[in-house]
Amino acid sequence: MMDVGRHPRIEMMTYSEVEAVSGFVGNFHVTVRKKARYVDPSQCTSCAECANICPVAVPDEYQQGFSSRKAIYIPYPQAVPSSYILDMDNCLGNNPIACGKCADVCEKDCIDYDDQDELVSLEVGVIIAATGMDVYDPTEYDEYGYTRFENVITSMEFERLICAGGPTDGHFMRPSDRQLPQRIGFIQCVGSRSRDGRGNPYCSNICCMNTVKDTLLLCDHYPGIETKVFYMDIRAFGKGFEDLYMRSKEEGVKYIRGIPGEVVEDPETRSLHLIVDNTTTGKLEEHELDMLVLSQGVIPRQDGDSIKKLLTLSTTSDGFIMESHPKLKPVDAPTKGVYIAGCLEGPKDVKESVTQAGAAAARASILLNAGKTKIEAITSQIDNEQCNFCGICSTVCPYNAILAPDRKTKKAPVLIQAACAGCGACAAECAQDAIVMRHFRDEQLMAQIEAILAVEPHKHLLTFACNWCSYAGGDNAGTSRLQYPTTSRLIRTMCSGRVDQKFIYHAFKHGAPIVLVSGCHFSDCHYIDAVHWTQKRMDRIWNKLDKLGIRPDRLRLEWISAAEGQKFAKVMREMEGIVQQVTPEEIEFTMKVLAEDEANSKKKAAKKAEKKAEVAI
Ligand code: FES
Repeated sequence: MMDVGRHPRIEMMTYSEVEAVSGFVGNFHVTVRKKARYVDPSQCTSCAECANICPVAVPDEYQQGFSSRKAIYIPYPQAVPSSYILDMDNCLGNNPIACGKCADVCEKDCIDYDDQDELVSLEVGVIIAATGMDVYDPTEYDEYGYTRFENVITSMEFERLICAGGPTDGHFMRPSDRQLPQRIGFIQCVGSRSRDGRGNPYCSNICCMNTVKDTLLLCDHYPGIETKVFYMDIRAFGKGFEDLYMRSKEEGVKYIRGIPGEVVEDPETRSLHLIVDNTTTGKLEEHELDMLVLSQGVIPRQDGDSIKKLLTLSTTSDGFIMESHPKLKPVDAPTKGVYIAGCLEGPKDVKESVTQAGAAAARASILLNAGKTKIEAITSQIDNEQCNFCGICSTVCPYNAILAPDRKTKKAPVLIQAACAGCGACAAECAQDAIVMRHFRDEQLMAQIEAILAVEPHKHLLTFACNWCSYAGGDNAGTSRLQYPTTSRLIRTMCSGRVDQKFIYHAFKHGAPIVLVSGCHFSDCHYIDAVHWTQKRMDRIWNKLDKLGIRPDRLRLEWISAAEGQKFAKVMREMEGIVQQVTPEEIEFTMKVLAEDEANSKKKAAKKAEKKAEVAI
């Protein structure tokens, strides 16, 4: 942090928040709010006179509330710049007549109660997001008594209590009597790997090794202490981790395979009683401890949604930011020119975060050094002649690549080619056909439908498969030699969001007995949230089919990932089953009603246009 702060080519803006991001790769405009510090950092010498005289004491967040800080304070010892800031929410000096003591004693005159937030505009080529994570609050695990028993603490609180720079200067003690505890227990996976509706289902990745490290610290500093770890599995998967785990065991730490059900405190001795079903011995055990540490998991940042919106990112089902591709682009965000590093992408330890940060910096510098970037040719184009300025395209675009049109001034939407990723959701939603996709043009896709259904259409299983997941799922089924009907015919689109309703109607009008639209699972769509539009569109089409008297189950929607070859084959076999039930009369009826519906729609559109022309005259 110090090195970064001192680096001549790095401008560090601490105590600041990004308020807005616009633009695209190579041309991002970022607005940063530099919050008022009320202390001039260039003048402050950190003499601490202000803090010494400040009459306000509030719990110190950095020390997990074990000690207090003043209203004028340095957030933590390594803070950059190393100068005081004034916490105006707690300061009495909001009205200097009420206090103003810190300003009086400051020899450098660097305290200014009228300081204001400042908005700074930056022009940047690339952005690396490394906003970190939050820790899980174990309050909902009431059986562990975190809110009821003083001597039940979290692993973060443990860190502060054993740290030389902590509230006790590194003298470890239990909170209730400030005595050195003789029997300490750790409960693993608090808030992680949970399937009971509390906490999170994922593994937090770092807690096992953090506990192993904590037990070694205890053994090192206080050799006589009895330490027990209650766990499900110890996940010591990194380099040197197994050795550390073994060392901890050799030092006498007892690892007990079983998670305690409930913690009860003896009100007199303040000792904690735990009943554990030891799954190794198969016996019910009772343990008495002086102190209990809950090894809490990690969670996505609580303000993750605003970061996601600012940078047009997408999240996985667990709330962490999704990378562009887990193997090929693990530090690229789906938005071009944005890279990700650290725990915002998923729980990880320091080493992994640093590795990822290095990779993100390298990826960013490749782009910056090149000075220009190549974009995929599969982008959309707007036909201004066709556009009726409805603006649906800019609403649909997951990348904010289309600047909204203005109906009043008849200003057409503007497409930022560099920001467009080519999902095709805009083209599929545009009712005016005013958006043309390069390489996946309507005519090309329609021609494929016609070609598939040219001969014996009633036998074919017509499938639209997204490039990234379902199409690859089909490949997987093929390379795994899985059996599925030979009548399956796939049409590849970049995203399921590209599948326009007119493709589906076109297929039915050409005698398709069944149509499948398949794409990535909801949180896996490679175009942020384009898949949501697939779902909405399909709901609309099902409704219409139902109204027209066409069996909605002849149109299927399936989420199939690249690894789900089995599922792909199964869905194809099921479709084959449905095809057997579709009679020639049903297909004929479908073709007829859809043709009539199309004719009616055309009539209505013509009438509308006529009326419009009359009004214009
Ligand atoms: Fe597969 Fe969007 S990329 S559904």
